[in-house]
Amino acid sequence: MAKEPVRVLVTGAAGQIGYALVPMIARGVMLGTDQPVILHMLDIPPAAEALNGVKMELVDAAFPLLKGVVATTDVVEACTGVNVAVMVGGFPRKEGMERKDVMSKNVSIYKSQASALEKHAAANCKVLVVANPANTNALILKEFAPSISEKNITCLTRLDHNRALGQISERLSVQVSDVKNVIIWGNHSSSQYPDVNHATVKTPAGEKPVRELVKDDEWLNAEFITTVQQRGAAIIKARKLSSALSAASSACDHIRDWVLGTPEGTWVSMGVYSDGSYNVPAGLIYSFPVTCQNGEWKIVQGLSIDEFSRKKLDLTADELSEEKALAYSCLS
Ligand code: NAD
Ligand code: LMR
Repeated sequence: MAKEPVRVLVTGAAGQIGYALVPMIARGVMLGTDQPVILHMLDIPPAAEALNGVKMELVDAAFPLLKGVVATTDVVEACTGVNVAVMVGGFPRKEGMERKDVMSKNVSIYKSQASALEKHAAANCKVLVVANPANTNALILKEFAPSISEKNITCLTRLDHNRALGQISERLSVQVSDVKNVIIWGNHSSSQYPDVNHATVKTPAGEKPVRELVKDDEWLNAEFITTVQQRGAAIIKARKLSSALSAASSACDHIRDWVLGTPEGTWVSMGVYSDGSYNVPAGLIYSFPVTCQNGEWKIVQGLSIDEFSRKKLDLTADELSEEKALAYSCLS
């Protein structure tokens, strides 16, 4: 029997990530090639015409899995009945703006969209925040949608995770699909800590630790980390626009693994509500290694953290605590 369609909201759908993301969702990249979808696309009135153009292209592409498209500038219409919400819309930093000004704009957007989701989304709606500052936008959304379980509010650090896999695969000239269990700890910002201490590579002789194969701790502890931390900025420098296809693809990976599960023995990185694991302050949205099963994520426990890593976990937690304080100051 054919499955019931799943309603997927994409905010900021007329933007660059939205343009890359909606066809992926309509092709089954996010929820599976047997899962029909209805796309809900939200943007703001100045982008309404462009949003309608995206809707026209979705119709023209004749995606067999796409059972309907809602394209709107009305947040209530956009949020009504959605099972998955991918929050890409936000206010970008413009010339001359202070950090606090950008935070203040995004805090007010995420506060009002939280209320709309809380009132109108389907029960158990899963939320992924992509728009920056992603962790803190997700935290604000959680605070203002108290009836949505904290387990259902996450932010995107899978792009950073995939970037780390990509760097190791290039360095070792191995297939990216043979590298696994890197970790992104903390903030989706340059303070994040890409950690390879538990990462492995599949070889003909079995799984081998990344450190053993790379044989260059100096590179792993310095250049590898800064390359992943600075990759977003490097893309902006090269494209004069921020990453879009990789962000959209990673958003699909995030939701797919969350809904359909992570493979046995593999974890992924997700920004989730901290319960104090690994001595990360509770009450932050922080990126952890997680496994997913039956539509729920669980933080991987018991990994050893050396002194070098401890400092880096704390540094990115400190930045998130500061962002949280700044966000709260914008609310008052
Ligand atoms: P973009 O400017 O091309 O698109 C953003 C869209 O959001 C625009 O169409 C804009 O009109 C819309 N928008 C603005 N306010 C809105 C609101 N209140 N409601 C609905 N829509 C609204 O930007 P982009 O390149 O698509 O990037 C989107 C966001 O994703 C940015 O914040 C970017 O920094 C972030 N990003 C995050 C990651 C990550 O890994 N977490 C990666 C890349 C980009
Ligand atoms: C990225 O990681 O590519 C983006 O978050 C960069 C940005 O500032 O939009």
